[in-house]
Amino acid sequence: MKIISDIGEMQQTALSLKRQGKAIALVPTMGFLHEGHASLLREGRTRGDILVLSIFVNPIQFGRNEDLDRYPKDRERDCRTAEACGVDIIFAPDSAAMYPPGFQTGVSVRELSLPLCGVSRSGHFDGVATVVAKLFNIVQPDVALFGRKDYQQLAIIRRMAADLNLPVQVAGMPIVREADGLAMSSRNSYLSPAERQAALCLSRALVQARERYAAGERSAAVLRDAALAVIAREPLATMDYLEVRDGATLEPAQTADNGTLMALAVKVGQTRLIDNTVLGEEL
Ligand code: PAJ
Repeated sequence: MKIISDIGEMQQTALSLKRQGKAIALVPTMGFLHEGHASLLREGRTRGDILVLSIFVNPIQFGRNEDLDRYPKDRERDCRTAEACGVDIIFAPDSAAMYPPGFQTGVSVRELSLPLCGVSRSGHFDGVATVVAKLFNIVQPDVALFGRKDYQQLAIIRRMAADLNLPVQVAGMPIVREADGLAMSSRNSYLSPAERQAALCLSRALVQARERYAAGERSAAVLRDAALAVIAREPLATMDYLEVRDGATLEPAQTADNGTLMALAVKVGQTRLIDNTVLGEEL
């Protein structure tokens, strides 16, 4: 396994591999890898001749009061995980090289970036789209894999790839959960034991809505209220949003159907967590 931090070296390596007819699979991450990332890497291993993992804590997708400075990091453990998943190249650039003085270009997927996480994290998705566009140009992937845990992010990257005719296939992968249902996240490491227990309210809220849906309920408002009640019962939880939307367009939905998205963001203590489910699909 090779570790490359130089952007030019990564791009030259990628272009040379492509000239040899190799298909490149890319899994972009911010590191502190967990089983959710590993599932993307294992799938990526089957989809490309060369598997590239990028690790870059992208400063421009963090708001001023967010956790950029304390984002968790364990490079040695990440290397072990990457090796075990069959990664060929770890690409880990420096922030100063990604955003040199004078940098001023951005990608904005305008409408899809507005609702849900876009409301409380203004500018976040422009930062995500911009760095992912840069990573695509540097790593030249034939396929790039993303988790459905970040459902809106995946929708935005798909839209960007289509709108800008990027020659990359964007693959969306299922949410990986802890045994008790909590969606895996690097940010779960911020939780105290009491908060870790309280964090179960997110997946439980979704399960509550899914059960009502399975029992025949189709009113988005009723399903939303059922999920909200679960969050409201948890004293350590503060609601950011809980919404029912069309899974493809992210437009608000009044009636739920197979393919309807329920997405939520909840602060547990100081830690903001997200989760979602697509009704009619496996959790
Ligand atoms: P990060 O939060 O490190 O996540 C990297 C990838 O892993 C994303 O595609 C995310 O959806 C996926 N992922 C995280 N937790 C998951 C889980 N429990 N199950 C399945 N997939 C999961 O998302 C980012 O980094 C950044 O925004 C990035 C795309 C790298 C751009 O900076």
